Amino acid sequence: MAAVFEATVTAPVNIAVIKYWGKRDSTLILPTNSSLSVTLSQDHLRTRTTIRASPTFDRDRLWLNGAEEDVSASKRLVNAITTARRLRAEVEKQQTDAVPLSQWPVHVSSENNFPTAAGLASSASGYAALVSALAALFELPQSASELSRVARVGSGSACRSMFGGFVAWQAGVAADGSDSLAVQVADHTHWPELQALILVVSDRKKTVSSTAGMQTTVETSALFPERVRAVVPGRMEAMQKAIAERDFATFAALTMQDSNQFHAVCLDTYPPISYMNDTSRSIAALVHAFNAAVGRTAAAYTYDAGPNAVIYALESDMRDLVELFAYCFPRAEDTAPDAFYPNPLGLFESPASVG
Ligand code: DP6
Repeated sequence: MAAVFEATVTAPVNIAVIKYWGKRDSTLILPTNSSLSVTLSQDHLRTRTTIRASPTFDRDRLWLNGAEEDVSASKRLVNAITTARRLRAEVEKQQTDAVPLSQWPVHVSSENNFPTAAGLASSASGYAALVSALAALFELPQSASELSRVARVGSGSACRSMFGGFVAWQAGVAADGSDSLAVQVADHTHWPELQALILVVSDRKKTVSSTAGMQTTVETSALFPERVRAVVPGRMEAMQKAIAERDFATFAALTMQDSNQFHAVCLDTYPPISYMNDTSRSIAALVHAFNAAVGRTAAAYTYDAGPNAVIYALESDMRDLVELFAYCFPRAEDTAPDAFYPNPLGLFESPASVG
């Protein structure tokens, strides 16, 4: 029997509260601004990835949720695997008796425990799981922050899924991307009362991908440079302070303002991009009405490159919010049973864990 080496890991989904939108280098995936996210519980949303390496495999192969994909068609996938192999080659150079895994083809099998069609950031957990699995298989000595640079070349937001809790992606200034990496701002035990609720407004695939959309924004939006220069740096600081102090009202206001500005910049893109639909806007209005009714900022919404809402609230308010959303937005007859998550999702799973 030929040798087969194998590793299995899981990695979580993250939802940004200060959005990443815009690249200054689209090959290395270097962002125009820093961003900050909250990692969601892996009980509800995670990618599980198994990687096998063997000298008997004839080429790299990948299965996503059971269906085979063409590895060579994805430059990013090839980049991520090649970068991890390079790090493994360094290990092999130092330990002369190490198995030459860097030279063996790999078979990758990756599955999400949530419907990919739900429009959640599956590329983030997907690339984080891929890189964590390669790191486990190759026994790489790099830290999670160092490995986040490898996940970043797969998909920008993936670098933040290398950690649980609250995570900042520092934009960095170096042309080679060496300082563009994720760091943990606070771990998953820091604010256990904070919860997230995902409202699936549509499970259709988005019309403009994040990659294409942000490129057009960088090229055409006049508001965008102002956001990058004058808004995001201050918000990054204020958000980290709000998290450190568990100040929900400030956390929530900043989250909603940053989501709104991101979507404003999308509308200012030419041709304009509108990810939110009428239902998304009604949900945002309902959150503001709820906050006004209770007399404090008790809930926040945020939207990525699609119409689905993520609602943040403290555990003590979540039940009321779930009832309110279920009452105002009853599930349509033809929606998949798991298209609306009726239970608040506990947050803050630990980082990608080796299974
Ligand atoms: C709106 O990370 O999917 O979700 O780097 O091109 O793969 P690429 O883009 P991606 O963009 C995510 C954009 C966002 C905001 C965020 O997650 O910060």
